[in-house]
Amino acid sequence: MNPVDLSFQLFPGGSLGEFNLTRELSTVLSHGKGSKIYDVFGKEFIDYSISWGSIILGHAHPAIIKAVKKQVVKGSSFSYVTEQALDLAKELNRAIPCAEKIRFAASGTEATFYAIRFARAFSRKTKVVKFEGAYHGAHDIGVTSLFPQSLLPFPKPEPTSAGISRQVQDEILIAPYNDLKTTQQLIEQNEDEIACVIMEPLQRCTPPVKGFLEGIRQITKEKKILLIFDEVVTGFRLAYGGAQEYYGVVPDIAAFGKAMGGGYPIGVVCGRADILDLCVESNLGKEGYVWFASTLAGNPVSVSASLATLKELRKPGAYERLHHLGRKLREKFRALFQKLEIPGQVLGDGPLCQVLFTEEPVTDYRAAFRADRQKGRRFALGLFEKGIFLNPMGTKMYLSLAHTEEDIQKLIDISRKVLKKI
Ligand SMILES: Cc1ncc(COP(=O)(O)O)c(C=O)c1O
Repeated sequence: MNPVDLSFQLFPGGSLGEFNLTRELSTVLSHGKGSKIYDVFGKEFIDYSISWGSIILGHAHPAIIKAVKKQVVKGSSFSYVTEQALDLAKELNRAIPCAEKIRFAASGTEATFYAIRFARAFSRKTKVVKFEGAYHGAHDIGVTSLFPQSLLPFPKPEPTSAGISRQVQDEILIAPYNDLKTTQQLIEQNEDEIACVIMEPLQRCTPPVKGFLEGIRQITKEKKILLIFDEVVTGFRLAYGGAQEYYGVVPDIAAFGKAMGGGYPIGVVCGRADILDLCVESNLGKEGYVWFASTLAGNPVSVSASLATLKELRKPGAYERLHHLGRKLREKFRALFQKLEIPGQVLGDGPLCQVLFTEEPVTDYRAAFRADRQKGRRFALGLFEKGIFLNPMGTKMYLSLAHTEEDIQKLIDISRKVLKKI
């Protein structure tokens, strides 16, 4: 049977997640090397998805292969502290401003789930402020008002997935990203019930406007509400110490994943010691005790891959290069739009880029929602057809240290051709 037919027979939409191509464009991958991936039919793609941002060094990086090979023969998982886990925790504690204490998880979803649980347990309150259009993983809170269609008045949430109980919706307050005044009002009106504000410091690809993160930090501190940074995307990507280092705003709790695992499953919850210590087993039965367990969390294979990744990222020039490549890509897209007289916005920071078809500057979800999303999808599918691997949802393009200026020029050349046709 053709592997694509088999994929559609066995996987909903012939896909492993939210990466749904038309049947004609769907494929089955075989392997990757550096910035390229190859399908079983021999087609080469330049990868601008890099496993949704996980492969920050590029595919099959020799340093990661070496570290993983060395570890797998010594055992893959013990669900207990290892020397490698200690080494990684020491490095996280040194690198991440808020990371007084650390718990490993197995994914970003798990990390944000636990971050919220810690915040609720510590504050003894239940409501969570989340920003419209932000993603915090697949759990109920993470997908509430992720892609809302009705644009309800704030703070009313809209579930993006079925299967979420009404009670969850009653506990989430939705705020507009980059609108400090509305968010402050919403917090003031509900301060006695709010456990935490969770946010992507750089939301999807939309940077924070000047003073926004500082304002959120100030009001949460004043009102004794905990601030959670979801750094699953920004962590070890915008800077070695994540968005909190990059923007100079330190949260109480943070969640990490993706890039820090170098392509192996990982998640991290870290933060103030007085909050993280709630999960000590001797607290069981006491008020505020947090259950924390994750069978494969901190497994030495993922941890070894992470240590190898961080070692590469600490080398001089790594972040300069990631930022240089991202800046180049965004500048070239802007120049292309201008030349072709296409109304478009190019968002992002560091090695991240998103293209939206709208004349209006985009600083929040609603402005992005008003863009021509049909055109965005046609653009993404057109690129895919011509060998650019990217999520057709058009949410983000990711660059790795393996990408080159030539890769970027190829993307721009192909984009020129596709834009003329759509
Ligand atoms: C900001 C953010 N938080 C959390 C997650 C969830 O991470 P994972 O897919 O590893 O569960 C994602 C994944 O895309 C993300 O972008």
